[in-house]
Amino acid sequence: MPGIGLGTFGSDHVDSAAVADAVGTALALGYRHIDCAAVYGNEAEIGAVLTRSSIPRAELWISSKVWNDRHGDVATACESTLADLGLDHLDNYLVHWPFPNHHAPHVDVDARNPHAVAFSAERYLDTWGQMEHLVERGLTRHIGTSNMTIPKLDAVLGHMSIRPSVNQMELHPHFQQPELVQYLHDHGVAPIGFCPIGSPARPERDRTEHDTSPTEDPVIVELAAARNIHPATLCISWAVTRGHTPIPFSTSPTNLAANLRAATQPLSSDEMRLLDDTDRQCRLIKGQVFLWRDGQSWQDLWDEDGTIAS
Ligand SMILES: NC(=O)c1ccc[n+]([C@@H]2O[C@H](COP(=O)([O-])OP(=O)(O)OC[C@H]3O[C@@H](n4cnc5c(N)ncnc54)[C@H](OP(=O)(O)O)[C@@H]3O)[C@@H](O)[C@H]2O)c1
Repeated sequence: MPGIGLGTFGSDHVDSAAVADAVGTALALGYRHIDCAAVYGNEAEIGAVLTRSSIPRAELWISSKVWNDRHGDVATACESTLADLGLDHLDNYLVHWPFPNHHAPHVDVDARNPHAVAFSAERYLDTWGQMEHLVERGLTRHIGTSNMTIPKLDAVLGHMSIRPSVNQMELHPHFQQPELVQYLHDHGVAPIGFCPIGSPARPERDRTEHDTSPTEDPVIVELAAARNIHPATLCISWAVTRGHTPIPFSTSPTNLAANLRAATQPLSSDEMRLLDDTDRQCRLIKGQVFLWRDGQSWQDLWDEDGTIAS
């Protein structure tokens, strides 16, 4: 898996055509890893770019994700993603969220699906069995998880025939998740970091007054200035030095090129030590819309006390 990927979520304000253009620019610059998802609503436009590209398929790493309303029908979801992307196989296919709790696009964080349910290892393993079948059919080379926690992984890993290749999770200097990253390394699962720059353009619904911004952190700003780079690219160098795969999104050719370059520029151990101390444990993508009971808080999704909320 190439050590940096291009994210393709337009955060509700970048349309599908612009995201597809960004994919074309990124491929021309040398990106070979594209992180897609059915719910981003732009796989057909990205597929048109992939179809036009002369880059050999074997050099590309294309991943996608099954959305929460298709946990019971993974094969059809994957086939439709493949048709949209114009591919006969994916390199990686992930379960986007561990909850089958669908909600309409663009809803407010207070919106709740009346049929929403708590995480169930049994139900997740049923979905995972369907994911394993995709590998057997050659529709994807690898399968992976996303937004999982240590308690949830503990509940399912031992029952899987095919282990997850990756767990995609929020990772940036203000949200470092050291225990989960170590757990993944210990279990041979590669961490992929989403929102690696702190998602400065994320939708309004994903913002709270307590959120912090890694690109405005004084330590990060100072270290970036010393290298004459943007704080965003320092975040990319931090990710690769730490041993996870960042998937930054950008529509700017200059920023796309800078992020790709940053992935080949590791930080020193002194810089990494200073960045260790910038962790604010500030989760930006809280997932409120996946809650299943009135009166819950988003922390219930993340098993912070070590147990899975029921
Ligand atoms: N699995 C999941 O549940 C999940 C959740 C969220 C996200 N994701 C994935 O992770 C990807 C990345 O997350 P994200 O898009 O929310 O956040 P992000 O990559 O942290 O931030 C993207 C923003 O940073 C700006 N940016 C990028 N490079 C820059 C640079 N070198 N200098 C200055 N600004 C820069 C971009 O603006 P410009 O366009 O102007 O460069 C864009 O607004 C998504 O696209 C998606 O593929 C997955």
